[in-house]
Amino acid sequence: MIKKLLKGAKGYEKQSILTVVLVLLETALEVILPMFMSNILNTMQLYSQPNPLKEKLIYLDFSTWRIVTALPETAVTSAMLTNTVVTYGILMVVSAVLSLTFGALAGKLAALAGAGFSKNVRASLFAKIQDFSFSNVDKFSTASLVTRSTTDVNNAQQSFMMIIRTVIRAPAMLIFSAVMAVIKAPNLAWIFLVAVPLLGLVMGVLATKVHPLFKSMLTKYDKMNADVQEDLVGIRVVKAFVREEYEEEKYRRQTEEVRKAQLKAEKLMVLMNPLVSVIMYGAIIALLVIGGTDIAKGKIQAGTLSSMMTYCTQILMSVMMICFIAVQLVMSKASIDRIYEVLETNPDIEGTDNDKTVNSGSIEFKNVNFSYSNNAENLTLENINLSIKSGETVGIIGGTGDGKSSLVQLIPRFYDVMDGEVLVDGTNVKDYSLYNLREGVSMVLQKNVLFSGTIRENLLWGNKDATQEEIESACKAACAHEFVTSFPDGYETDLGQGGVNVSGGQKQRLCIARALLKKPKIMILDDSTSAVDTATDARIRQGLKELDKDMTTIIIAQRISSVENCDKIVVLDDGKINAVGTHKQLLKSCSIYQEVYHSQQKATAEQEGGEVNA
Ligand SMILES: Nc1ncnc2c1ncn2[C@@H]1O[C@H](COP(=O)(O)OP(=O)(O)OP(=O)(O)O)[C@@H](O)[C@H]1O
Ligand SMILES: [Mg+2]
Repeated sequence: MIKKLLKGAKGYEKQSILTVVLVLLETALEVILPMFMSNILNTMQLYSQPNPLKEKLIYLDFSTWRIVTALPETAVTSAMLTNTVVTYGILMVVSAVLSLTFGALAGKLAALAGAGFSKNVRASLFAKIQDFSFSNVDKFSTASLVTRSTTDVNNAQQSFMMIIRTVIRAPAMLIFSAVMAVIKAPNLAWIFLVAVPLLGLVMGVLATKVHPLFKSMLTKYDKMNADVQEDLVGIRVVKAFVREEYEEEKYRRQTEEVRKAQLKAEKLMVLMNPLVSVIMYGAIIALLVIGGTDIAKGKIQAGTLSSMMTYCTQILMSVMMICFIAVQLVMSKASIDRIYEVLETNPDIEGTDNDKTVNSGSIEFKNVNFSYSNNAENLTLENINLSIKSGETVGIIGGTGDGKSSLVQLIPRFYDVMDGEVLVDGTNVKDYSLYNLREGVSMVLQKNVLFSGTIRENLLWGNKDATQEEIESACKAACAHEFVTSFPDGYETDLGQGGVNVSGGQKQRLCIARALLKKPKIMILDDSTSAVDTATDARIRQGLKELDKDMTTIIIAQRISSVENCDKIVVLDDGKINAVGTHKQLLKSCSIYQEVYHSQQKATAEQEGGEVNA
């Protein structure tokens, strides 16, 4: 897991390594400080008693500016005491300032490396998602991909920063302090041998109890976030159905769940402080009692005991930190796994390096079976055989859910067939590069979107080098030019996020114009004029033919009137081709087609009759 984390730090290795080095220096200085202090205190005590030195003492003599080594059994003079206090006083100040500086620098570098880490991970996630096929995206779901690129990356970043700062700091502090404690007072150090495992045990038990509680809290968080997202995306629908109160109530219930889960976890967490205090003060009292006796017996000095107390705090604090890190790492492991699940998924549709392009625009389906779940028992399309000549206009009619969108999505390879093959220009679609195939096949999706930006910027998605003339002629063919020019800003009108500033029918026409700008050989309209009136619908079809006679056009529609003039019409029924023919032929021979036609005729007649009566 740590290896995975470090992979994300590419390009920020220098900052990461420097952080580790600085943290080590900071910790070493923090551990040395109590030793300086103990030197001062011990010398003071010996002077006041007055006793000769017990240990070797090194200090700077400020009258001669020479470093002096005083051996044990030397009497402590007042000059010696002053020099010792000043020498170690200065050393303490310098160490403290340096330690602070290293700490601050380490913090800054860790933040830099952490920010760089999340930038890297986000960029690779985003790039990976861009390569995903439709079915890859279906598998993860859009909402989950959003959470993975935001919240999960944040969690991983926290862990990464903690690793480069604390993971080194805590064990380093523990080891340094323990070594110093053993050097300073070996006969007191055994107290830590009892206190450390005891604290580790208490923290370990608490962590294992709290961890599942936190995990369930995070899951509840996830659910709450997903609901907020869904509600905000669909806020218009919520309002249209006057469901505000219901949504509020639902949200209130979820926040309540989060509150309860939080409370449960925190209840255990509050136990931690008192427990840690008991162990810490227990150890300090033991130190005082045993150390005090040792002082009375003349075994150690007061300064040594004072430094031992500092080491005691440092050691127990590091044990606590280590436990915290363990908990945090386990908690963020879920996030890191979720990120890597995306990064390690291979796009299941990849093109070849072939430079073949689509030239004529003929299409052929040969014995095609297709299933979203890749399951032969659950076929969405079954045994499809269909041949479309270059330049033909083909209509597809069928009930909702009968597989119309699924069928045409196989042409630009949004999904791959399970059996059989789809040929474009006589070449299997799998043998094109995805770029060339999709340049040749333009598709106006049923669930289409415009992006934030101006109308012109959106249209240029079709062809970034399109001239104003080309833009206008595509818009004229799609019957969009008229309404675009009626806007005060014309083609520079800002669409707002998701293209909210235009009506449903206007959006559909802009999407058609955008697809036309690619000058495709094959144009697929998936229910793309459902929101425009019949007259405009007819004008769009007329416009398309005039723009490019040789373009193969596939029109999926609910209205017979949208397809009746097509060269041929395909009737789909429950994933199978029921009939293929012209309007006239189908009216004679295909019962499904007749039924649809008559029901629509009747509806139109009733509507017109109704209008006359009114
Ligand atoms: N992304 C998907 N994952 C799984 N199943 C899907 C997916 N998209 C569609 N389906 C299923 O495949 C079947 C055919 O759907 P399809 O969208 O092709 O129908 P359609 O004929 O275009 O319908 P409509 O007229 O409503 O657009 C449906 O049963 C649908 O539930
Ligand atoms: Mg559809």
